[in-house]
Amino acid sequence: AAVVEHTFVVSQMNMRHLCTDTLVTVVNGQLPGPVINVTEGDSVVVHVVNRSPYDITIHWHGVKQMRNCWADGVPMITQCPIRPGNNFTYQFSVDGQEGTLWWHSHVGGLRATLHGALIVRPRQGAASYPFRRPDGEIPIVLGEWWQQMDLVQLERNLAGGNFNYSPSAATLNGKLGDLHYGCSGAMEEGHVLDVDPGKTYLLRFINAVLVSEYYIKIAGHRFTVVAADGNYVNPYTTDTIAIAPGQTVDALLTADTSPGMSYYMVAMAAQPTVIVPPFPVTMTRGVVRYPSSSGAPMVPAMPGTHDTDTSFHFHGNLTGLRRSPVPTRVDERLLVTLSVGSMCRRQGQTTCARTSADTIIMVNMNNVSFQLPAGATSSLLEAHYGHSSMSAMGLATLPDRPPVAFNYTDPALVQRGPREAWLEPTTKATTARRFRYGSVVEAVFQNTAVMQTDSNPMHLHGHDMFVLAQGLGNYDQARDVARYNLVNPPVRNTVLVPSLGWTAVRFIADNPGVWFLHCHYQFHASVGMATVFIVEDGPTVGTSLTPPPANFPKCT
Ligand code: C2O
Repeated sequence: AAVVEHTFVVSQMNMRHLCTDTLVTVVNGQLPGPVINVTEGDSVVVHVVNRSPYDITIHWHGVKQMRNCWADGVPMITQCPIRPGNNFTYQFSVDGQEGTLWWHSHVGGLRATLHGALIVRPRQGAASYPFRRPDGEIPIVLGEWWQQMDLVQLERNLAGGNFNYSPSAATLNGKLGDLHYGCSGAMEEGHVLDVDPGKTYLLRFINAVLVSEYYIKIAGHRFTVVAADGNYVNPYTTDTIAIAPGQTVDALLTADTSPGMSYYMVAMAAQPTVIVPPFPVTMTRGVVRYPSSSGAPMVPAMPGTHDTDTSFHFHGNLTGLRRSPVPTRVDERLLVTLSVGSMCRRQGQTTCARTSADTIIMVNMNNVSFQLPAGATSSLLEAHYGHSSMSAMGLATLPDRPPVAFNYTDPALVQRGPREAWLEPTTKATTARRFRYGSVVEAVFQNTAVMQTDSNPMHLHGHDMFVLAQGLGNYDQARDVARYNLVNPPVRNTVLVPSLGWTAVRFIADNPGVWFLHCHYQFHASVGMATVFIVEDGPTVGTSLTPPPANFPKCT
């Protein structure tokens, strides 16, 4: 096993798109940032040099960090952030995982420009892929361009109940594409993928956007999906890929259509999450180009805006390739509503007028909106490692189920909206759940109608989840367990909970530490759709959290 070493200099620079300079925070002057290529079993060392004006952390999305929660990179959950002008070196190894993972800053909206691919290849080389050996491999990062928008300020607006936001464009590997115009009518450059006829390419898609699931299509071609979130799936052939924020999809593309032509690769927001009209369709076009092609590229027919069926079927059709033994015993069961509620603006008040002056809209899980403990002097992980109790850490227990049962997917709730659909007032707290080492946890995430059209990509740090089933409507345990796939469920670190529906997962809490669980729509997470799972140390050697690294950042 090798040591893969990188230096990430985080700094601000101007980038020009749509004929306007925008100040962005990037790694090594690149957007997307550098690709980290490793072989399974390698150690990774990344020296982060913070020359930006912000507090920074880097999270290695999908890397399990077994017993090494210290390198997980979540501000105030696992570490104090790296202050401006300071450095920190992340060290971890990538064991027992193969495929496409990625890295991103975990500091609010900065993720929009601080991200890149982390690719893990098998030890025996590409010949050992459980699918036809590709002739080329191409990481494709799906991003968004937020023009002249201070993403740190945007998050503050959200916390104050102002949900007025929208990206200016989608991007493929940082390119906006020809649907967008730069100065004096010139079209923006799109991402170009040059292919040779008859060859097969492994496209490694990463959805790094802040706010929407996307559909990806290439005119005249089909994909064979072979992996998702760094876990192999049974080959699944489709013309449309559905990919939610935080997710990765590896797909084979064979250049088997008429040469001498080019074909658009289109990525389009599947469910625009913009609440305030106008609802722009966020879209980008790249080009798949055959040698000596001429003429305008062929355009694919995209699913309609607000088409949720295509997403539901894509996710429902995936099955895991390696038949991992799904535990049949369940030690802990959670039903978690992902919802929008409201609370009185004035502290201590429990009844107030349903006006924007008096009530504030809060995103929540089981009616509790997550917030970090105020004035903490260390991360929760350091407090936990020092044997603090949950209450000493300022933590409240995440309820096992919603406080009131109601018809979660009643269309009437959509009509009433979050302010009127009071249901039960939301509260704010730093919630967590503690799990004994080795517990089997089943969690059902229930999306509620007050989410309007949003689906929720739920991401668990430090663990992969067996995705047992998804459904539309209200989850009903007695009825729905019969639909669980306990034979070959897909294994993912980010599961999509369909709008007006639910998703059931199981995971084994075998990685001691303090792990964030949150919606990967940045703006859901930043206003409370999050909680913390604390996994206790195991009883035997090699089952406990290791000591913190040297030079761990301090909060003061
Ligand atoms: Cu990709 Cu908690 O993040």
